[in-house]
Amino acid sequence: MHDFHYDHEELYCEDVPVRKIADEVGTPFYLYSNHTLENHFNVFDSAFDGTDHLTCFSVKANSNLAVLKKIVTLGGGMDVVSGGELFRALRAGADPRKVVFSGVGKQVKELEYALREGILMFNVESSQELVALDQAAGRLGTKAPIAIRVNPHIDPKTHPYISTGLKKNKFGIEMQQALEDYREAQKLKHIEIIGVDCHIGSQITEIDPFVEALRKVKELVLTLREESIHIRYIDLGGGLGITYDQEQPPHPREYAARLCEEMHGVDCTLILEPGRVIAGNAGILVTTVIYIKEGTEKTFVTVDAAMNDLIRPSLYGSFQAIQPIVKKPGKEIVADIVGPICESGDFLAKDRTIPPVKPNDLLAVMSAGAYGFTMSSNYNSRPRVPEIMVKGAQFSIIRERERYEDLMRGEHIPEFLNT
Ligand code: LLP
Repeated sequence: MHDFHYDHEELYCEDVPVRKIADEVGTPFYLYSNHTLENHFNVFDSAFDGTDHLTCFSVKANSNLAVLKKIVTLGGGMDVVSGGELFRALRAGADPRKVVFSGVGKQVKELEYALREGILMFNVESSQELVALDQAAGRLGTKAPIAIRVNPHIDPKTHPYISTGLKKNKFGIEMQQALEDYREAQKLKHIEIIGVDCHIGSQITEIDPFVEALRKVKELVLTLREESIHIRYIDLGGGLGITYDQEQPPHPREYAARLCEEMHGVDCTLILEPGRVIAGNAGILVTTVIYIKEGTEKTFVTVDAAMNDLIRPSLYGSFQAIQPIVKKPGKEIVADIVGPICESGDFLAKDRTIPPVKPNDLLAVMSAGAYGFTMSSNYNSRPRVPEIMVKGAQFSIIRERERYEDLMRGEHIPEFLNT
């Protein structure tokens, strides 16, 4: 359940009319509900009560400082994939002992940074990374706590770009090789083995692939125990899907119940790395209609948000619902909702049935709280849009709209071009 609702035909975020925010800050902007974030986190996290666990929010889904701060306040840890994400997490007040670090290309300086901060666990994704990490820890006179991210070869039945647990994907280490890498890791002086990690993909709407992955991980944990390699943490990654359109993903309680059942008697702390299920439906993108163009084949509704602001429809062909901020009577139209960018791939929706619109009408692109702003860019030299958070009847700008000056920050015209 989220906190975007209509009252007298007008969309509200909690107790604030979205139109009021648009009047004050202009469009486009991302809008997040504090209460939805809190509710989603608490529902997810409490579903694992009774099983030793740690919920590490996946920072890549939404990395705004205020959003991270909210998660920290709720007791959450963080799943990071870069030095930049770690920096943000720490700035938001995250406890480094609740931070896990995943990613196939961690650079030495990122490994060193995370070691110095004393994070909970490195999810190692290759044999070479293991060696690099051992050396980095040696240089810093410390030990690196690790899990190996295994690739369990499981089809999560999601979009190919966000499926990560198949042998053809670049992620993790195949099971047999992982066992050998654990044996090698045990010989390394500056590595401390503490976990096994796996993440099979994103926007997964069935529980079985998760259970299958957990079973494979458990099997590995038991094999390792026989070799006196003691695993204390099982990290099952993120990936639980949400409803964008007609999807019917399992409720976090059903998902947790199945996983907790599997965890019985394993004697490990379960780590989860949810992103989308916490933030996805806690945010919307608000945009204004600029022009409407009726072609012979199609009607185009051009809005002020574009693929640089929200790339999911262009990149994955994803469906994001589009709703009016103020509902009006009248005959629905079928249109492509497009942005001002010079690419045919710049659309937020195709052949979409929407209520009648005219220039200056406001629209909400729903389910945009995860992988929305974080994937935005400055393409076509478009300043990135602001992010706003609502709490009850208050709202606050949690990231300012970029100005033209911001577009050129760090750029220089070299002297030799001036002669
Ligand atoms: N842990 C790891 C190691 C991940 O790679 C991801 C997502 C997550 C956790 C969080 O997954 P979630 O719970 O949010 O599904 N940009 C795409 C999604 C990419 C997901 C990448 N990894 C999209 O907009 O659909």
